[in-house]
Amino acid sequence: MNNGGGPNGGGVDLLTPERVADPYPVFDDLRRHQPVHWNERYRAWFIHRHDDLLAALKDPRFSSDRIRPVFEHKLTEDQRKERAPTYRILGEWMVFRDPPDHTRLRKLVSRAFTPRAISLWEPRIAEVTEELIMNFAPLGGMDVIKDFAYPLPAVVIAEMMGVPPGDRDIFKEWSDDLMVLVFGARGVQGRRERAQAGLGELSGYLADLVRHYRNSSTTEDNLICSLIDAAEGDDTLTDDEITGTCILLLFGGHETTTNLIGNGLRALLNHPDQLDILRRSPQRGFLRAAVEEILRFDGPSKMQVRMAAGDITLRGLTIRRHDMVYLVQAAANRDPEVFANPDRFDIRRNPTAHVGFGFGLHYCLGAAVARLEGAIALDALVRRLPGLRPGPQGEEWHPTLISRGMESFPVSYNPGDGRPSQVEPLP
Ligand code: HEM
Repeated sequence: MNNGGGPNGGGVDLLTPERVADPYPVFDDLRRHQPVHWNERYRAWFIHRHDDLLAALKDPRFSSDRIRPVFEHKLTEDQRKERAPTYRILGEWMVFRDPPDHTRLRKLVSRAFTPRAISLWEPRIAEVTEELIMNFAPLGGMDVIKDFAYPLPAVVIAEMMGVPPGDRDIFKEWSDDLMVLVFGARGVQGRRERAQAGLGELSGYLADLVRHYRNSSTTEDNLICSLIDAAEGDDTLTDDEITGTCILLLFGGHETTTNLIGNGLRALLNHPDQLDILRRSPQRGFLRAAVEEILRFDGPSKMQVRMAAGDITLRGLTIRRHDMVYLVQAAANRDPEVFANPDRFDIRRNPTAHVGFGFGLHYCLGAAVARLEGAIALDALVRRLPGLRPGPQGEEWHPTLISRGMESFPVSYNPGDGRPSQVEPLP
């Protein structure tokens, strides 16, 4: 493939409408012919092979500390002033830290993600799923993203954080603001500025909530209380760290889970044989494996980002200090060296080597929650909406480099009462 020439200084354009809708052919081509290359269009290195990804994610020279160097060295004084409030929030996030800061934060925050803590999420996820399905089952059609996959994780995470029911609507608005900052303002005048203001309000709201729970005489079973109680010896999280972590959890756990449900349902509807196996598997036996295969086949994260902390030689090429590096999970997850027939969607393969949740020190902290939420949501959609099929309007994709998800995915089904339908078990 020709990687040079063309507009924007050359480099393969990964955001044409065709490549946004289906990035896999171009990633396959790049993994075969230019597994490591510099793309001038994005001014970054792209790495595609599964073995190279694992090696990079184990190598401390591929640093996660990429916000600070840009903020300190690459911005003008005016830009620094303008972005300082956002930087103060992002600066608290473990996902942008290297050891030893990352080690400390991760250890403390992990205390809120024990198996017991995660088991508390399950009934709440099931309840919210039930409410949404019951609302839409009689209608015969919905937009899976807007009506189901987007609100579900937003409500669940707000409740898990201990946001009082009366504040959930405003919390959801701030959550939308966060998404605008991720996906861009899409041509709406002033939307980005409002979103930035919204992030400030969200941060202030969460800081008050943290203070409220810290001063409360009783401990409740919610994430903020778990983060307040988390301790390693004498070390605990500060209020600022807890506030920043809550925003990270909302940011890291909302859109990704929406996309797991959306991409997963689309993969199942496009492969009726696999949907049939899932529906008819006794005791939902293939549900967990189906979620893993969705993460491999069409997961929510296309790439992880790193910054070279020093000069690195890889496949004969030199990645220079402070160069940005994109580790293309979507290409590694279809590497034929690791997965047989990688372009085949097969829910029985149970692909444990997929890198959909990353790998190494920063492996997704919310993976167990995401698996649980994805499994409950997909199970409800495929069992409770009979005759489920893609709507005639077709889906629309978010034109983003790093994540993979739809803006809308209309589906039709036979109007019903939302009760699970009876199916013949697999022979
Ligand atoms: C299917 C849904 C999800 C996907 C595909 C996903 C993917 C990822 C990936 C690829 C990373 C590694 C980032 C890196 O190395 O730079 C990550 C980290 C993280 N994720 Fe997730 N995530 C999902 C859901 C969640 C949920 C539900 C939560 C929280 C409730 C969460 C919280 C986090 C946190 C806190 C980190 C940072 C871990 C660290 O830096 O040590 N994620 N996630």
